[in-house]
Amino acid sequence: MIKVGIIIGSTRPGRNGEAVARWIHDLAAERDDASFEIVDLKDFRLPHLDEALPPAMGHYAHAHTRAWADKIASFDAYVFVTPEYNHSTSGVLKNAIDFLYAEWNNKAAAFVGYGSAGGVRAVEHLRLIMGELHVADVRTQVALSLATDFENFQVLTPAAHHADAVTAMLDELLAWGGALKTLRDTWRARGAAGAA
Ligand SMILES: Cc1cc2nc3c(=O)[nH]c(=O)nc-3n(C[C@H](O)[C@H](O)[C@H](O)COP(=O)(O)O)c2cc1C
Repeated sequence: MIKVGIIIGSTRPGRNGEAVARWIHDLAAERDDASFEIVDLKDFRLPHLDEALPPAMGHYAHAHTRAWADKIASFDAYVFVTPEYNHSTSGVLKNAIDFLYAEWNNKAAAFVGYGSAGGVRAVEHLRLIMGELHVADVRTQVALSLATDFENFQVLTPAAHHADAVTAMLDELLAWGGALKTLRDTWRARGAAGAA
């Protein structure tokens, strides 16, 4: 069974991201074809990237980097729950992504965005970033509107149709996540690179 990390992309006091991630996790937990775990960036307390060597070299000097790397390496696929800040994803999520390399490679990703326009511009930027990290990003995404899927822009009240999008998105994510796990396992057996 593949493992999926649901990453909360905001650490802001009073953030909406935590409720969004818990809603996704509750829906996902009804499935029996994968295991799901919320990953809260607040728990990892990463500073601004402070590793001297590029992450692609795979030599992490700091304990906080190794703890983050171990967590991300433990998953086969990810759901990025991202706010939209100034038409992009959050700085804290971009920084957390930048810390690592091999741990992301040859995995699958899906996106849940929220904001005035459903977080779609944040997700478009994340899709570009995923390409550089050899992450396969699925087409279906969930786009929550601050105006219609939250009360007073603060209390999550998602419209019913979003649950269908979550199901379709997770179906795609688990299919690609499983296929890429097979690929990594094959490469690992051959001792090839990219099998982390
Ligand atoms: C610094 C900042 C910039 C923002 N920029 C945008 C934006 O460009 N587009 C948008 O739709 N919402 C924008 N918003 C609104 C956020 O998407 C909204 O506050 C959301 O709840 C933030 O996620 P969080 O509560 O999980 O931190 C911005 C909010 C902040 C704090």
